[in-house]
Amino acid sequence: MNTETFPNVTGKTFQLAPASTLTGSVQVPGDKSMSHRSIMFGAIATGVTEVSGFLEGEDSLHTLDAFKSMGVKIERGGPGEVTLYGQGVAALKPASEAIYLGNSGTGMRLLTGLLAGMDIPATLTGDASLTGRPMRRIVDPLSQMGAKIGTGEGGTPPLVIAKSGTLSAIEYVCPLASAQVKSAILLAGLHASGTTTVHEPAITRDHTERMLRGFGVDVTVNGLTASIVGGQHLTATSLTVPGDISSSAFFLVGASMTPGSKLTLTGVGMNPSRTGVIDILRLMGADIAIENQRITGGEPVADLQVTGSKLKGIAVPEELVSLAIDEFPAIFVAAASAEGQTIVTGAEELRVKETDRIQVMADGLRALGADITDTPDGARITGGRLSGGTADSCGDHRTAMSFAMASLISDGPITVLDCDNVNTSFPGFAQIAKRSGLNIQELPASN
Ligand code: S3P
Repeated sequence: MNTETFPNVTGKTFQLAPASTLTGSVQVPGDKSMSHRSIMFGAIATGVTEVSGFLEGEDSLHTLDAFKSMGVKIERGGPGEVTLYGQGVAALKPASEAIYLGNSGTGMRLLTGLLAGMDIPATLTGDASLTGRPMRRIVDPLSQMGAKIGTGEGGTPPLVIAKSGTLSAIEYVCPLASAQVKSAILLAGLHASGTTTVHEPAITRDHTERMLRGFGVDVTVNGLTASIVGGQHLTATSLTVPGDISSSAFFLVGASMTPGSKLTLTGVGMNPSRTGVIDILRLMGADIAIENQRITGGEPVADLQVTGSKLKGIAVPEELVSLAIDEFPAIFVAAASAEGQTIVTGAEELRVKETDRIQVMADGLRALGADITDTPDGARITGGRLSGGTADSCGDHRTAMSFAMASLISDGPITVLDCDNVNTSFPGFAQIAKRSGLNIQELPASN
């Protein structure tokens, strides 16, 4: 790596030589969204909740530590096994220090709703990325319910939740498609007086609604409207977290866009609010077979068999955007391989993820030789081969792993900078990717 050109580089780098196919079988780690929720719900339930398949990534471990700091007994067993000894909401006590949630928007937004509803004061903070992310989207509706939440300047963290007494239910028309906003309000509504209702503009992931039901809570869903009656208690349960389709996405893209690839992804969560990436890749001509469909822990799961081919550019249907919101960095790479132009619109939420993912992907792919124009709500990408070079992930786990997959369509080597945060969602990514066919090396931080 040329540290003269990138003097401020932080974190480890991925060094990749060109590769041509992905083969074999991959089991990706547990679903991040469900792992967060399994801790939150197990911690406030009454009884012993056993979780298997838990994602031992930094994000979900921060949520686990948060509840430990509020007095909940939580034990970690073998890989992916967590036991929570819940004693109900009344047993939770305020943490003695600020709760650090690392890189995780889900951790912060859902915990804010939950704690505000339970009237537990707390200060929530995070890393440089998280402390720059918008929180008014949850603070405004929670304040309407009576919560007292202070923010930093510009509505960003730290969030300071003060005691407010019992919250009142609201009916909220959500201006944006966000499972985090929906979940924060429903979790506050769990302990509010009255029935809290959220209307969404588009389908977003429904793990909160499904998992709460698994814990014995009555959540009503009617199309894009979800309601919860306050004052319900959670009863402990056992649950298995399926493999994360968002982590599978890198491999789905890598194998789909390279003729000669033959890759199986086992135990992938197939919740219909998350499968947009499969629909989008299929529209681009990908050959993805869905096999062994089953239900695990109230969620559909399947094995995916991917056969590589040459993809073609498409206009991504806007109704698929919220169903694939975390997969766009990988989809941009698929588009960079495809014949013709791919147009992404209606995806402005990408600009407020762990990074501005439109900007980071456009800058990085351009640096690798792609023809890409970023637009306020998406991008236009004309596919072909890449030449290689250095792409800066800017500390975003999903852009880092996407740029790594770009080595499958590159004629020259690729260096990906600032890759430490891959551990937030996919510990062991480089090893698994190497076993499947990437020529990837992880280099420690150089300064
Ligand atoms: C998540 C919801 C999505 C997603 C995030 C996880 C969740 O965020 O991007 O990675 O677990 O609820 P938004 O609700 O902000 O779209």
